[in-house]
Amino acid sequence: MLIDIIAGARPNFMKIAPIIHAIQKAEDNGSKLKYRLVHTGQHYDKKMSGDFFEQLNIPHPDVNLESGSGTQAEQTAKIMVRYEALLLEKPCDLTLVVGDVTSTMACSIAAKKLNIKVAHVEAGIRSFDLSMPEEINRMVTDSITDYFFTTSERANINLKRASVEDERIFFVGNTMIDTLLKNRSRFMKPEVWDELKLNESGYIVMTLHRPANVDEEHKLKGLIQEIVDHSQGMPLLFPIHPRTAKVFENLGITHDNLHLIEPLPYLEFNFLVERSRAVITDSGGITEETTVMGIPCMTLRDNTERPETCELGTNELLGTDPKAIGPAMAKLFSGQWKKGGIPQLWDGKTAERIIECLNEL
Ligand code: UD1
Repeated sequence: MLIDIIAGARPNFMKIAPIIHAIQKAEDNGSKLKYRLVHTGQHYDKKMSGDFFEQLNIPHPDVNLESGSGTQAEQTAKIMVRYEALLLEKPCDLTLVVGDVTSTMACSIAAKKLNIKVAHVEAGIRSFDLSMPEEINRMVTDSITDYFFTTSERANINLKRASVEDERIFFVGNTMIDTLLKNRSRFMKPEVWDELKLNESGYIVMTLHRPANVDEEHKLKGLIQEIVDHSQGMPLLFPIHPRTAKVFENLGITHDNLHLIEPLPYLEFNFLVERSRAVITDSGGITEETTVMGIPCMTLRDNTERPETCELGTNELLGTDPKAIGPAMAKLFSGQWKKGGIPQLWDGKTAERIIECLNEL
């Protein structure tokens, strides 16, 4: 069976790495599974893509669709047209997509319309917030998925409510956490550690890239100002996403303790997170990693598709109103932040379970 593994944007790369490694291991043990790695090219910078392939030992993609930047529809259309052409020329037996980015949705539609089965890793999670492109990507992908690999009981419930039969739902855990646990001992000190003379629990990591937070100058400025005002002078490390950088340039904000840095490679980024006092973010994936590492996490969003990171983990949803930041920082600095536990099956063996399931199809 030939499986196309689709990767398009930064948060996909840590999810596909363990799946590829598990297929390679299964091949060595006589499994009939073969894969073709398709990079859609949605993220193309070395810092958003190439570094992750190198550090996570992901093989060079067999195909790069080079779709590049564009509006939501432009990206979707380009990826669909190019992936369809690939499938017409060289079909596969199963298309495996991960996560919720535009590439995930575009490739699953192109495959399904050619009657190719679709497997979705991280299926079933829902924020129920259709203002986020990722939620639309999740809903569309899951509406045409054949095999659902899930990270949480909540995802299973969401799928069952949508009348997905039990036989098509495989509760396997979280491949992003496979990557985290496998690489934890390899985390690498970034240059900024020595440059700023950082020390453990002595700084905060920030990431912001959601359109709702960063596309309007006044919103971004308001959030950053509030964070700076309540940070008690602690260094704020802000590896800035290209989308955010474009808006930030015009804000004219500088503060002694606000340190903008380029997007970091995986091993350096998680080195910083693991030793930080807290993380402030609007990412979904980072809330899973902070939960597993037990690092306090403040999420600047009104909702989350990963409620277990709040109910069980160290994450708290602050919303997008800057006023919520002060009280949360006060709680952090007074040592009152919750400790948290680790969700079921986030144990580093998820990719192996996925491959066992695929072997039986
Ligand atoms: C995408 C995903 C989001 C994910 C995020 C992580 C969708 C709908 N969104 O959002 O779920 O959390 O990636 O990064 O798929 N750009 C570069 N270099 C790159 C890639 C992008 O400069 O390598 C620029 C683009 O030109 C564009 C902006 O960054 O202006 C946004 O990129 P895009 O892929 O559209 O969405 P993200 O905001 O990165």
